[in-house]
Amino acid sequence: MTDTRVPRRRRFLVCEPRHFAVQYAINPWMHPDARVDVDLAREQWQALIHAYRSHGHTVDIVEPVPGLPDMVFAANSAVVVDGRVFGSLFHAPERRPESRHYETWFKAAGYDVHHPESVCEGEGDLVWTGRYLLAGTGFRTTREAHREVQEFFGHPVISLTLVDPYFYHLDTALFVLDGGHEGKDGKDGNKENIVYYPEAFSPGSRAVLARLYPNAVLATRDDAMAFGLNSVSDGRHVFIAPQAEALAARLGDHGYVPVPVDLSEFRKAGGGIKCCTQEIRS
Ligand code: ARG
Repeated sequence: MTDTRVPRRRRFLVCEPRHFAVQYAINPWMHPDARVDVDLAREQWQALIHAYRSHGHTVDIVEPVPGLPDMVFAANSAVVVDGRVFGSLFHAPERRPESRHYETWFKAAGYDVHHPESVCEGEGDLVWTGRYLLAGTGFRTTREAHREVQEFFGHPVISLTLVDPYFYHLDTALFVLDGGHEGKDGKDGNKENIVYYPEAFSPGSRAVLARLYPNAVLATRDDAMAFGLNSVSDGRHVFIAPQAEALAARLGDHGYVPVPVDLSEFRKAGGGIKCCTQEIRS
């Protein structure tokens, strides 16, 4: 089975944690008196970049800005599908200035950026499956933003309600194993599939996910608390927190290859691998 999993090269956008810190609390993981080891954070982040590059992925880097300690969480600044950029409008006033710094990067790279009218935290809450945009709401991104996203991209947006404050962004409760694509002969390609923690969602949203993804891999609360759902998959490798051991083993049984990357320092801010990674889909 393992041999049928085909990786696809990705282009990622990241931001170095030079100014990373926990200075305010906007999710239950954050405690402003917790000491962050910035050197360790930088080493852990470098290991993530190394893991991506050594698996054939392209990594672009945004220059960090002093005074924006959460800017390292690149996922929140936009969602890019079909080479079109839907920017961000953060819920927390502390994070609002991040958007324009990412916009500067996108403009220099030749992209126009659409400004959301309503609170929208990029890939934190908008997960492209290859067919749909799964869209989280409840803590950050609003339903109005979901409508805006659908109008902008013309792809179906599936609104999902998050109910557990520890999983305040959709990308802490769900990730895409593979966007679904055909193999060389049109047969052996990967099927679109996801992994998620059902209890992070309202009953109705859970039912929607069960209908759309009857073969999804279901995660436990322990997997989710270990940030195991904040993973990045290229269709074969899954870059995943080593603390999410049980989930990694199960993904192995499904033919995926777990690549452990420890971002423990970033957990103090409520972030992990996916939070530090935005994908640019051309
Ligand atoms: N401290 C940040 C916040 O609460 C963490 C963001 C994590 N990003 C993510 N994509 N889940 O906004």
